[in-house]
Amino acid sequence: MNGAGGPGTRVNLRAALRRSFRHALESLAADGVVAIGPDEIEPLLEQVRETADAKFGDYSGTMAMPLAKKAGRKPRDVAIEIIGRLAATPGYADLFEPPGDPVGPGFINVRVKDEALAAAVATAVSDERLGVAAVEAPLTVVVDFSSPNVAKPMHVGHIRSTVIGDALARILRFRGHAVITDNHLGDWGTQFGMILWGWKHCRDDAAFAADPTAELGRLYRLVRKVADAKPEELAADPAAAALAAKHPDAAREVLAETAKLHEGDAENRALWEAFMPVCRGEIDRIYARLHVSFDHTLGESFFQPMLAATVDDLASKGLARESRGAIGVFLRGDDAPPLLIRKADGAFLYATTDLATIRWRVEHWKPDRILYVVDHRQSEHFEQVFEAARRWGLAGIDDVDLVHVGFGTVLGEDGRPFKTRAGDTVGLEALLDEGVERAAAVVGSGDEGRAGMNDADRRHVAETVGIGAIKYADLSQNRTTDYVFSFDKMLQLTGNTAAYMQYAVARVEGIFTKGGVDREALRRGCSGLRLADPKERALALELLRFGEALEDVENDSRPNVLTAWLYDLAGCYSTFYDSLSVLKAEGPERDSRLALCDLTGRVLRKGLNLLGIGTVERM
Ligand code: ARG
Repeated sequence: MNGAGGPGTRVNLRAALRRSFRHALESLAADGVVAIGPDEIEPLLEQVRETADAKFGDYSGTMAMPLAKKAGRKPRDVAIEIIGRLAATPGYADLFEPPGDPVGPGFINVRVKDEALAAAVATAVSDERLGVAAVEAPLTVVVDFSSPNVAKPMHVGHIRSTVIGDALARILRFRGHAVITDNHLGDWGTQFGMILWGWKHCRDDAAFAADPTAELGRLYRLVRKVADAKPEELAADPAAAALAAKHPDAAREVLAETAKLHEGDAENRALWEAFMPVCRGEIDRIYARLHVSFDHTLGESFFQPMLAATVDDLASKGLARESRGAIGVFLRGDDAPPLLIRKADGAFLYATTDLATIRWRVEHWKPDRILYVVDHRQSEHFEQVFEAARRWGLAGIDDVDLVHVGFGTVLGEDGRPFKTRAGDTVGLEALLDEGVERAAAVVGSGDEGRAGMNDADRRHVAETVGIGAIKYADLSQNRTTDYVFSFDKMLQLTGNTAAYMQYAVARVEGIFTKGGVDREALRRGCSGLRLADPKERALALELLRFGEALEDVENDSRPNVLTAWLYDLAGCYSTFYDSLSVLKAEGPERDSRLALCDLTGRVLRKGLNLLGIGTVERM
């Protein structure tokens, strides 16, 4: 990937350095210094990382330690052997200073050549891709995300899959992969039994005519209570209690309505078809507000016609068989419970649909990887489904990387799953509204912001800041842990928040307005940068690490790697801007610093954009 790094070529410094280390390690192994198997190289190369402290150079390799242990030698000696080979590897000298002696127990520290750094940043400044090279071998990646069960209102639990999935899709796409996003809607489940039953027993036609979404939502909530028949819930809701008293058998009848729908009953099918656009309208409104879209929305219903054949095929291959009237795939021997794919009453299950979906996706999209961005509580489901899919032996399945990208729960400030005061799940739309409303109080609080913002501007800014805050708070968490949802924290203007990052962008942009600088001309005229001050150099180097951050996000499906990096970049920029004059500098120094500002603004904006977060000119 552009290892030579001549002017005009996009450089990934870490990738280039890892390539050099690869050569060095291969030669180390070939010379018999340490035995290194081919599979061991890659993990060793991952030990080439940026240094925590610039006084140790820009990158550091720590593999001498594990290698020495293996060879029974001193880490320092192994480091010296590596260093002796590193400088001679192809392309190394174009980008890096000759490595010095090992530091400490055997760290190999490398510094980027100043000229190479200046040239690489100049390239990034004049580049639409901001200096980020696309991957050499693009993959086809399906991202299955959001996937709410419709016919019930979207709630706070849906935010994580939607926001994380969207960010991953955007990042993978920018990296050059062929990304296919698919919203695997739950549009065929038992929740339809509830609204079908509700429709037949307690609908309000006038309310439906006036606001169909609200009426279906009401029916869902009401019937769920009736069917669950929990005394404390019924005590709090007289309408539900009255209905429950009248229909003691409601739970069973609700299931029967779902079963009739699945069996093709004409009335229920017609009602389902009438309800679906209403349900879709509801979620689409939220997606529009979140600026999230999908290439496909093949819900569970799409795969229904394929389920019987899925079960038959698994059975005929001897993978699935009867178990107490039901049919299951026995993955862990005869004694462990099987993965059920057909119930005794003939109904298909969630897993059956997922298996049919894998088959369909593999056949039609030929993906290299499928990411399932779904709550970690479903990890066992996915382990079993992936295992069953592999044993099924679908053509090409062995080359498909099936990955469950799990995530933790959204907690309230009391540390328990986030609920309203009344104990209900928090509706997503109300949550977005509240975020925007609270953002409005923050927006324009500075004098700069207040001046020259009309009402429409303020509303737009509040929407961007409020929605951005909610998304960023989620994305900046390590996805596997639970996190506490706090409006107060997420809307702070300092710290690692969207508002701080958006404000940083607005500040950078402000310089160009203030100085009346023609940014296009600046970019065109940027041939090499002057990085005399360590703060300029540090900023330049950080800017060039954008591609590295994106690569790390992909490796582990962790958007928080990008938020953390953007936050560091903003910090680097502040250090630079607070101590060096930009607009008051002169000649080439001014242009060079302006070019760094220009690139910082664009990289921050692009980074936020890849997280699905908007920016504003003023706030
Ligand atoms: N609808 C499911 C739920 O809300 C999530 C679906 C995730 N995707 C999948 N292919 N199973 O729990």
